[in-house]
Amino acid sequence: ADVQRHRFVIQATKVKRLCKTHNTITVNGMFPGPTLEIKNGDTLEVQVVNKGRYNVTIHWHGVRQMRTGWADGPEFVTQCPIRPGGSYTYRFTVQGQEGTLWWHAHSSWLRATVYGALIIRPREGKSYPFPKPKRETPIILSEWWDANPIDVVREATRTGAAPNVSDAYTINAQPGDLYKCSSKETTVVPIDSGETNLLRVINAALNQPLFFKVANHKLTVVGADASYTKPFTTSVLMLGPGQTTDVLIRGDQPPSRYYMAARAYQSAQNAPFDNTTTTAILEYKSASCAAKKCNAPTPIMPSLPAYNDTNTSRKDESLFFTIGLGLNKCPPNFRKRRCQGPNGTRFTASMNNVSFVLPRNFSLLQAHQQGIPGVFTTDFPANPPLKFDYTGNVSRSLFQPVPGTKLYKLKYGSRVQIVLQDTSIVTPENHPIHLHGYDFYIIAQGFGNFDPKKDTSKFNLVDPPLRNTVGVPVNGWAVIRFVADNPGVWIMHCHLDVHINWGLAMAFLVENGVGELQTIQPPPPDLPIC
Ligand code: C2O
Repeated sequence: ADVQRHRFVIQATKVKRLCKTHNTITVNGMFPGPTLEIKNGDTLEVQVVNKGRYNVTIHWHGVRQMRTGWADGPEFVTQCPIRPGGSYTYRFTVQGQEGTLWWHAHSSWLRATVYGALIIRPREGKSYPFPKPKRETPIILSEWWDANPIDVVREATRTGAAPNVSDAYTINAQPGDLYKCSSKETTVVPIDSGETNLLRVINAALNQPLFFKVANHKLTVVGADASYTKPFTTSVLMLGPGQTTDVLIRGDQPPSRYYMAARAYQSAQNAPFDNTTTTAILEYKSASCAAKKCNAPTPIMPSLPAYNDTNTSRKDESLFFTIGLGLNKCPPNFRKRRCQGPNGTRFTASMNNVSFVLPRNFSLLQAHQQGIPGVFTTDFPANPPLKFDYTGNVSRSLFQPVPGTKLYKLKYGSRVQIVLQDTSIVTPENHPIHLHGYDFYIIAQGFGNFDPKKDTSKFNLVDPPLRNTVGVPVNGWAVIRFVADNPGVWIMHCHLDVHINWGLAMAFLVENGVGELQTIQPPPPDLPIC
């Protein structure tokens, strides 16, 4: 195993998109940021130097961070942010995970432009459990705002309203041929007749589950969230934000140019929706155009599922969680302009009716390790406060979540099962729930209300998928299981970023076990303090 050292300089860079130039926060001036390529067992040491004007942290999405919670990255959970002018070195070993993960900023909405791929290959002398592809290409799906994303979320937080939707979806940070001023830079993915390309597809979008398809080509899924899957063939993928899917694609079609495209899957019937599609081009090398003025064939467009095709999303995204949006009354002393949600309310979100609030003066992990009182409590409710028909009549009491910094305490080694139930208050929606510090098994999912008497018979205890993010079905539920063998403080949240702002999160406090190997390592000396 090797130690790989990198330096990430967070800086403002001029980026041109949709006909305009923007001052954009990037890593090393690259957009998307650098792809990190390591082997299972390697150690990464990434020095992050903040030369931008915002606080920042970096999260290594899906890396288990065994006993190295200090390197996980969510601000105010495992560290205080790196201030402008400051730096912090993330040091961790990736062990027992292979495939595609990614990294992104975990502070305000900086991850809109601060993100990149993290590729983990087998150890020296080991190979993939499928034939070695000729080529490998990261395909990062994301969103682009013409406005500064930090301003977009600040405005939404100020008013209590939903934030503006993005101006484009992107593939490898390019909107593609269907958007204005974008076709010169459209991402081109080469392939040769007869060769196989491994596409490492990542949904880095802030607030949007996405369908992904390549015209005329089948996709063979071989991995998800950095674990291998039993291979299966499909023509369309659905990825919730945070999820990754590794697929093999074969150059078995007439040499030409084919669009690959991603389109929003909008499960919320009445949410603002921008029905647009981002494209890249799969180009057979013999069909490419070396000469300046050649007429490369117009790519063939795939037919994508309708934006509200819940059955497709269910088939390809076999995972799900219980969580809910709500509307809170405005406190009487609030200035009017701070309540511009529906009917003079503010949007809110919660798990078990608690709307998660991050601390400001300490990180949760630091407060836990140093025994600092008053930063959090450990009374997160194990069950919702009342029985409830989640898909029928909505109880008004769940419209009023209670704000709190409540953690749920787990003994080292506990076996945990969580039923995640969508409450469908305000709107039924597919919530991608992400747990830090762990992978979990998704043992069942379904629509409607979870029924503990009947639905346990649906549990797959033989070969359930192992993931770090689960899309909880619209109007439905999912059941996940993991063993609490990684001590520390681990946030679990909806990966639709605006829902984090509204409080759709909680955190587990996993106690140390016995002996050094069951105890979190001491904090690094350069850990940022608040
Ligand atoms: Cu990919 Cu808490 O995040």
